[in-house]
Amino acid sequence: MTPRVRPTCDPTCAVCGLVPLITRLKGTTRVVARSAAMQSLLKRAARFAASDAPVVVLGETGTGKEVVARVLHANSARSRQAFVAVNVAALPAELLESELFGHGKGSFTGASAARPGLFEAADGGTLFLDEIGEMPHGFQAKLLRALQDGEIRRVGENAPFVVDVRVVCATHRDLAERVRAGLFREDLYYRLRVLTLEVPPLRERPEDVLALAEHFLADERAPVVGFTDAAKARLQQHPWPGNVRELQNVVKHGAALATGPAVDACDLPDGLTRPPAPHCVAPGTEAHKTLAEVEREHILRVLDACGGSQSEAARVLGVARNTLWRKLRSP
Ligand SMILES: Nc1ncnc2c1ncn2[C@@H]1O[C@H](COP(=O)(O)OP(=O)(O)OP(=O)(O)O)[C@@H](O)[C@H]1O
Ligand SMILES: [Mg+2]
Repeated sequence: MTPRVRPTCDPTCAVCGLVPLITRLKGTTRVVARSAAMQSLLKRAARFAASDAPVVVLGETGTGKEVVARVLHANSARSRQAFVAVNVAALPAELLESELFGHGKGSFTGASAARPGLFEAADGGTLFLDEIGEMPHGFQAKLLRALQDGEIRRVGENAPFVVDVRVVCATHRDLAERVRAGLFREDLYYRLRVLTLEVPPLRERPEDVLALAEHFLADERAPVVGFTDAAKARLQQHPWPGNVRELQNVVKHGAALATGPAVDACDLPDGLTRPPAPHCVAPGTEAHKTLAEVEREHILRVLDACGGSQSEAARVLGVARNTLWRKLRSP
């Protein structure tokens, strides 16, 4: 194996010893890790980066499992080779084998030419198997074999060949639970769980919330700088069931709606802002309308969309035509 390669221009983090940058097609991203929990995770990842053994990254949805997988790759001796990501859950069981291992010419109807699989595409680099918990049981034995022997066989071909691939897997599932339920092979589970990294949910690392929010805001084109204190308080209070991805979307929403120099609490999505801050609500805006006013406006919008046809509008609104007529007549 070639020695560990690190770009000289990117300083390594004094805490975790990693270059906290990941590369994607659309550019390079800095990994935010202000909390002690994330820093200790990255320290562990730094040790794993030097190894070639498979790693399983666990964590709730949107916590940053793929980010961690990319950090592992970027800090390994494989960093100059490909990082190939595949979502196992998105592929039908019949296609999984040929996608991962490739297929020979004529191996099935429509296979007019031989095609290399993703293991080959990742040769020398890292193959990231996302949602490994959803991998069909029948295929798990084949993956285990590939991991143990380092060799694969294209569908429809006899000769196996060697690939040099580091496999990193991720799942939001409890794999031990899936083993107990008979959905995940025990032998594969033990092969994978040697090196594990568990990304904590965002609610357990509140120190990361504002740092991540500022980071995502800097990516937006909107001419806003930072968040008001009220917005910061809302961001800190929210439990983030969708974790970092949810926060990213909330920041996008805030940046798109902001009219002032900074994102305010009232620019954040409704689910996040329980009672809207009084200073955000100008008289005559949506929050000051009566139910009857909101209803009437909605009826008029639907009527307009239906080209003025009352019977069509009544059908869309799910009310009788008489009811619609009565509502339109009332002041
Ligand atoms: N620590 C971080 N620093 C910067 N960006 C992050 C960080 N963690 C997550 N992100 C960003 O949040 C989004 C979600 O991260 P990612 O796709 O890695 O999560 P995931 O755990 O793989 O999600 P899923 O369970 O849905 O597959 C991505 O856009 C990613 O770039
Ligand atoms: Mg993912």
